[in-house]
Amino acid sequence: MAVSTKYGYQSPAVTVATALPKSDDSSDVLIVGVISGDPDNPDAKTTVVAGEFLDAGAVAEIEAGCAALGAKGGADQVTRVVAPSLPFGSVLAVGLGKGRDEWPDDVVRRAAGTAARSLNGTEAVFTTLGELNLEATVEGLILGSYRFTEFRSAKTAPKDKGLRKITVLSKAKDAKKRAARAAAVGTAVATARDFVNTPPSHLYPAEFAKRAKALGQSVGLEVEILNRKALEEAGFGGIVGVGQGSARAPRLVRLIHRSGRADAKTVALVGKGITFDTGGISIKPAASMHHMTSDMGGAAAVIATVALAAQLELPIDVIATVPMAENMPSSTAQRPGDVLTQYGGTTVEVLNTDAEGRLILADAIVRACEDDPDYLIETSTLTGAQTVALGARIPGVMGSDEFRDRVARLSQAVGENGWPMPLPDELKEDLKSTVADLANVSSTRFAGMLVAGVYLREFVAEGVQWVHIDIAGPSYNTGGPWGYTPKGGTGVPARTMLAVLEDIAENG
Ligand code: BES
Ligand code: MN
Ligand code: ZN
Repeated sequence: MAVSTKYGYQSPAVTVATALPKSDDSSDVLIVGVISGDPDNPDAKTTVVAGEFLDAGAVAEIEAGCAALGAKGGADQVTRVVAPSLPFGSVLAVGLGKGRDEWPDDVVRRAAGTAARSLNGTEAVFTTLGELNLEATVEGLILGSYRFTEFRSAKTAPKDKGLRKITVLSKAKDAKKRAARAAAVGTAVATARDFVNTPPSHLYPAEFAKRAKALGQSVGLEVEILNRKALEEAGFGGIVGVGQGSARAPRLVRLIHRSGRADAKTVALVGKGITFDTGGISIKPAASMHHMTSDMGGAAAVIATVALAAQLELPIDVIATVPMAENMPSSTAQRPGDVLTQYGGTTVEVLNTDAEGRLILADAIVRACEDDPDYLIETSTLTGAQTVALGARIPGVMGSDEFRDRVARLSQAVGENGWPMPLPDELKEDLKSTVADLANVSSTRFAGMLVAGVYLREFVAEGVQWVHIDIAGPSYNTGGPWGYTPKGGTGVPARTMLAVLEDIAENG
């Protein structure tokens, strides 16, 4: 299994050690988890969790340091202490909240992420958190240490290199393999974040397609790219219509992981790749328009996930279909009232050029269904209404009832927290057009997230189990960093999609 690729994010190296190091490098940091001794007793002392690798003296030093500084072990609280008997310059105690018999993955992942985020100027860490959960620790440390510095000149570039080396203490028999897999997952999420964080000046459809191709080829994916002429000829009216206002032509990228097994399930992935969304002629207000650099978050997560499926050699076929366009106003842009023909023949009256995502996605969904997938997972920064309904951290999951609930459950299990939402049949009435088969927006303000899902449902082939995951809020963090989530691109829902792919590989 190839773990890192030249084209993706360069994550810190991850190694497993079965004992604390002997040498004394004062710049190294040991990360340990601590809990409040007794939530009901404010005087109870903060306690080190999972101290198998530490002797009693070291544990006493850490706990005394926490007590002296008033550290209470609250979830995600970080405290730097010294433990003179240990071969580290300092120990970072990260709070895990209350003690538990079983540790939810995301409690450990968030603590590891918070710890990594708080380490400035440290290149190498050791940690005992892996005793609670090896995978969550590695993922949390990689994701928490994520940085995006490509566009900083010497004037503001960080002076340190950031975290470069993670050593997880573990005596588990398969620890190496598990750590390598977690590192691949963390790296894939970071790669998705890099795509999202790359500004629209530098990431436009042709360039995005080029990078997707390079990443895909580096892990052995088959790659097909349709340019504007090919899209026009094949009748991709949605992608062409949305892209026609921009001097930067649209693309449709297909990345294919073949398992080589005759009985393998086929999963289609579709991700919205609007490299910038001005709204087009139905232009958006200026205030937050720059956030629309993130309107390709679905595409970013899909591309990273299909590449990861190949790296992990998942025994299923995964076919990503990724439409890419820039939504701009110009004299060549589509107008409100234009009618276009989606790939497959459905005609659409474009009443609002800012409802562009569904137009490029409908084409992509019809194309994806030509491969006869068993399942289809589509994800997109589709509606502001998602953030109104569910906020900035919870993706809305819509689609076939059973598959929708399965995807939402798996999303919650990996800490991305997708929540099931309905697609009421009556909303289709709102998408009636006086001139075409459909209108691209409803005339009411009701249930905007669900209306978009109902629009997409029209294009899914009979018999395909499908979901639409609206990530308008969760894929791009406009607030402060928390846990393993930085400001900017988050990589959501790459880990949800991986969990679904693995579940399908295992259970069909
Ligand atoms: N890309 C936006 C949705 C969006 C909004 C993503 C905020 C992230 C944060 C999408 O293309 C859009 O503009 N949707 C419209 C749909 C409306 C015109 C029916 C919206 O949500 O306002
Ligand atoms: Mn829009
Ligand atoms: Zn958009």
